[in-house]
Amino acid sequence: MKKLRKAVFPVAGLGTRFLPATKAVPKEMITVVDRPVIQYVVDEARKAGIEHFIFITGRNKGVIEDYFDVQFELYETLRERGKLAALDHLNELQPKPGQTSFTRQQVPLGLGHAVWCARDLVGDEPFALLLPDMIMQGETNCLTEMVKLHERTGGNIVAVQECDPKETHRYGIVGRGADVEQGFEITEMVEKPAPDTAPSNLYINGRYILQPEIFDLLATQERGTGNEIQLTDAMLRLQAQQNFYGYHFTGRTFDCGNPEGFVEANMAFAMARPGMHAHVEKVMRDLLGESAPQERRTGARG
Ligand code: UTP
Repeated sequence: MKKLRKAVFPVAGLGTRFLPATKAVPKEMITVVDRPVIQYVVDEARKAGIEHFIFITGRNKGVIEDYFDVQFELYETLRERGKLAALDHLNELQPKPGQTSFTRQQVPLGLGHAVWCARDLVGDEPFALLLPDMIMQGETNCLTEMVKLHERTGGNIVAVQECDPKETHRYGIVGRGADVEQGFEITEMVEKPAPDTAPSNLYINGRYILQPEIFDLLATQERGTGNEIQLTDAMLRLQAQQNFYGYHFTGRTFDCGNPEGFVEANMAFAMARPGMHAHVEKVMRDLLGESAPQERRTGARG
């Protein structure tokens, strides 16, 4: 079985749920605490052993390519000023020369079309697909666990999580079959089913490992929901030829494609950052008009 080496990041969407910011800033570049959303997703891929990062960009997304470039003057200035810890940190995050590729999806015709734009850069090997507006927090790294499962099962892997059973109409939902290794067989995939027809409450959370045969199917995929070329439609056709397995991620996923999920992500990642937890907790309590736990116990108010 070919080793999983490449990851695709489709960043060509218009981000209309994040207007007006996305008039000028790609949503993938909006920061959660102190780094752009896209950095979290690239870090997840790197931790999972990915060696090549493929970005499907579009108009007004050039800043993403600049972000992953070496900022020579900045690095020199940091060195001259002795800010070596900051410099080391930037170097850690920096992709190595030749590890990134960028191609444009000239017209945003949908996620399926964006993935298809990566066909030549991926070639004839399995690849990871990470939706950059979904970022994760947990004891395990979602893509690392998917890679482990893929090494045992081959085929295609989709990460899933539980949603409120009343909310299935907001997600792509899978049907759960027999357990296989640390995952399970996917029996069906349904785009946004009503709660009474949904096969489960397990939603696809934005992480995939796909076989290259998906590209031939995407090439002929007709437009679907929203008049866009949908990845799920091509995956359903691939399922007629190849196995799909689910990996149940038990951490948290934040949908940073909408303001609510983005605010949640900022709170969660700030709370997890060393030295910031107490500050965030205090600010939240102040905003809510609550006192800190020990103050409540003594009846004192700050
Ligand atoms: P979304 O459904 O979040 O679409 O796409 P969007 O256009 O970015 O955002 P809204 O709905 O207008 O607010 C899921 C992922 O697929 C990418 C997006 O960049 C996002 O990471 N995408 C979507 C593309 O790369 N190209 C497309 O044509 C559509």
